[in-house]
Amino acid sequence: MVVDMDMKVSGSSSSSCPPRWWSENTVVVVTGANKGIGLALVKRLAELGLTVVLTSRDVGRGKAAAESLRAQGMLVEFSQLDVSDPSSIHAFVAWLKCRFGGLDILVNNAGVSFNDVYSNSIEHAQTVIDTNFYGAKRLTEALLPVFRRSATVSRILNISSQLGLLNVRNLGVKKLLEDEGALTVAAIDGVVSQFLRHVKMGTWEEEGWPKVWTDYAVSKLALNAYSSVLARQEEGRGLSVNCFCPGFTRTAMTGGQGQHSAEEAAEVAARLALIHPRKLLTGKFFKWSKPFMYSML
Ligand SMILES: NC(=O)c1ccc[n+]([C@@H]2O[C@H](COP(=O)([O-])OP(=O)(O)OC[C@H]3O[C@@H](n4cnc5c(N)ncnc54)[C@H](OP(=O)(O)O)[C@@H]3O)[C@@H](O)[C@H]2O)c1
Repeated sequence: MVVDMDMKVSGSSSSSCPPRWWSENTVVVVTGANKGIGLALVKRLAELGLTVVLTSRDVGRGKAAAESLRAQGMLVEFSQLDVSDPSSIHAFVAWLKCRFGGLDILVNNAGVSFNDVYSNSIEHAQTVIDTNFYGAKRLTEALLPVFRRSATVSRILNISSQLGLLNVRNLGVKKLLEDEGALTVAAIDGVVSQFLRHVKMGTWEEEGWPKVWTDYAVSKLALNAYSSVLARQEEGRGLSVNCFCPGFTRTAMTGGQGQHSAEEAAEVAARLALIHPRKLLTGKFFKWSKPFMYSML
């Protein structure tokens, strides 16, 4: 499905859709937000008047980022959160419950890659998988009971990548992931374990895993598949789940290369995070602002 969305967040083009459905009581959490797309997104969401929790694995970097936004008059709170560390997730969830009682929007943005733009490395595959896939998954699972569930408000936006399209050549894995209706979280975990096993054995190339940014692509493939399963699981329970690919963006991850700035990517991410309740979709992969069904990627 390809549908162009009118995702204005503050315009008044449609009189039946009030431009702002949120308030300063709407709490949004953004991970990996001390720099790059995450920081730009926190800034944009705070400018739009939500209460934003800026999280970062490094306390110093996170505090400095939050302070610079607060100095500009924005409602931004900081909390430490290393998504690859279960004890950090646990402490963060306890803090969030105590400070706000719950949350409305989660943006899983934290991510790593150890590849240069034109090189491929699988040396850090475990870290990449632990951060980009298991980090988002563990945090999401810990926060599911904390969402103030409302079909019109509560959402998860996973910052993913089109490198995680179903471009695996391994036919068994491809078939499993394509069968969206039957796919389970356990099956996705199995695919990821299989990949890490092939990396350890040095057989990942002949086993047909993606050729470009291999570990990163698998981490995002797993995140896309998990988002689809979660969207199905949460349908009708007051929580939507979507993915967003910001495209090639100039950040530390790309060594400053890219087709657009972090601010431009964050502008689109903010529109998606704040899609009007009447237009809210679930289980979609947004390539920039166009929604695709996961299984038709
Ligand atoms: N840039 C692109 O072209 C592009 C394209 C498609 C998708 N994306 C996705 O967009 C998201 C943001 O990336 P970016 O381009 O803005 O890269 P970035 O500037 O390198 O930012 C990545 C952020 O994630 C944080 N992070 C890394 N590991 C973490 C962990 N274990 N716990 C918490 N935070 C952690 C980093 O913190 P530190 O400062 O401490 O390292 C940093 O704040 C990522 O999910 C990425 O995969 C980017």
